[in-house]
Amino acid sequence: MLFDLKPKTKREELFGREKELVELHSALTKYPLTIVTGIRRIGKTSLLKTALNEFKQPSIYLDARVLDEEGYTRRALYELISQQISRMSGLLLKAKDFAKRVKGVHVGPVGIELDWSKSGTRLSSLFNALDEWASHEGKTLVVAVDEAQILRRLAGGKGRIDFTQLIAYCYDNLTNIKFVLSGSEVGLLYEFLGLERPESALYARGYKSIVLERFSKQTSLDFLKAGFEELGVTPSEELNEVVERLDGLVGWLTLFGHVASEKGLHNALQEVLKKAKGIIKKEIAHLLQRSNYYKPILKALSQGKSGWSEIKKELINQTGRFVSDAQFNRALMNLVDLSFVEHYQNGYTIPDPVLREVAKDF
Ligand SMILES: Nc1ncnc2c1ncn2[C@@H]1O[C@H](COP(=O)(O)OP(=O)(O)OP(=O)(O)O)[C@@H](O)[C@H]1O
Ligand SMILES: [Mg+2]
Repeated sequence: MLFDLKPKTKREELFGREKELVELHSALTKYPLTIVTGIRRIGKTSLLKTALNEFKQPSIYLDARVLDEEGYTRRALYELISQQISRMSGLLLKAKDFAKRVKGVHVGPVGIELDWSKSGTRLSSLFNALDEWASHEGKTLVVAVDEAQILRRLAGGKGRIDFTQLIAYCYDNLTNIKFVLSGSEVGLLYEFLGLERPESALYARGYKSIVLERFSKQTSLDFLKAGFEELGVTPSEELNEVVERLDGLVGWLTLFGHVASEKGLHNALQEVLKKAKGIIKKEIAHLLQRSNYYKPILKALSQGKSGWSEIKKELINQTGRFVSDAQFNRALMNLVDLSFVEHYQNGYTIPDPVLREVAKDF
């Protein structure tokens, strides 16, 4: 169902991403590392899950957001990995023979357990064993990490894990393991991976980047029509305004289709905008506490200011205080790193149409 709110997992439910699906499949055969980026609700998880499903190779899907809930600890990461390896059900029968040779790996009836203590399982040894298994089977094991920028938080404190070192190790030594990383906070993801930072373990490694873009107006309209058609509904209302306001973001379009299919098309747009604004407000509540500059910057952007100096002038106007270039730039760049703001040729903009509306009221 196109208007199902869960991330899509099947090709026939994944609308308008044929090209990206082919690109990802091809990248996974050629590159040890592929990076899928795009702002929130653009369909990264759907592309990733569908690709893993369609790509007839074993895969492990790690949702790094679990660490936001479980803690950024070695233990939480190890549990996440062991759960997902255990899910490779049928394949596990043979994989376990390889995995159980690794120190600290316990293979039980339901799956594998990893010793997460400091002297326990080394992830590089585990991946080595999985690589041997994949090679033995003539397969490629795809390790997908969704919202991978969160892994940077594992690097602090005792028993710390630098996940980039694990990726670099696999990259350099294991030919049957491929990584695909996705991230909404695009700047943070690249900063974490440090592909262009000499001191990073991943420095100067080649990779394939796939950037998900918003749907065009026509694709958005086609998506809504196809979704309603699936439900046997002929949209009575004009959908052009919906497409304008939701600006090609498939997540919001899906929410619109879902609400309209439950309550009818009349007033659905208003209801979706209200819901979407609520979602955005929750998502940015934490962010706004981190700097007094974020609100005025977002407000200036929502009013159509786009140039660096123009936004800074508006920030000073709104706060009534002196703000140095460096302070302003730091705040603006943080918003860019988090993908709440996008840098384009002529300046800056808020890519999410709903955040744009929310920011008007700041
Ligand atoms: N190509 C697509 N066709 C149909 N529906 C889609 C497509 N891509 C995404 N969706 C829908 O849009 C919503 C957001 O998708 P998804 O969770 O995949 O995006 P995301 O970029 O991973 O979002 P987030 O940043 O919140 O994790 C979901 O309801 C999903 O079902
Ligand atoms: Mg996602």
